[in-house]
Amino acid sequence: MAELSLQVDELWVGEMRGVTLGGQRLLVVRTEHGVCVYRDRCPHQGYPLSEGRLEGGVITCLLHGHTFDAATGAGINPRSSCLAAIPSRTEDGRVHVTADDHRGLP
Ligand code: FES
Repeated sequence: MAELSLQVDELWVGEMRGVTLGGQRLLVVRTEHGVCVYRDRCPHQGYPLSEGRLEGGVITCLLHGHTFDAATGAGINPRSSCLAAIPSRTEDGRVHVTADDHRGLP
């Protein structure tokens, strides 16, 4: 069992960071609504979203400019795609994500 445990305060509101858990890249995003975790892959062609921008609650992929709502993962442009959310929980100021060693992330 692999577990990511990240102090919420390690990220500013409006900041995102790529991390690795169980051999998979994740994108941890802190918005004014809290912390969200997504796969660090753009649904368009798989480019790492952690290399893109987060401004005004919008994640922009660096490669072709697709945009996503940072708080929900919903596609803004185009609306037809969305980010793959990873279940996480926040307790005592820490964000936790667990990956099963055999099945990987849920
Ligand atoms: S890979 Fe992200 S917009 Fe194309």
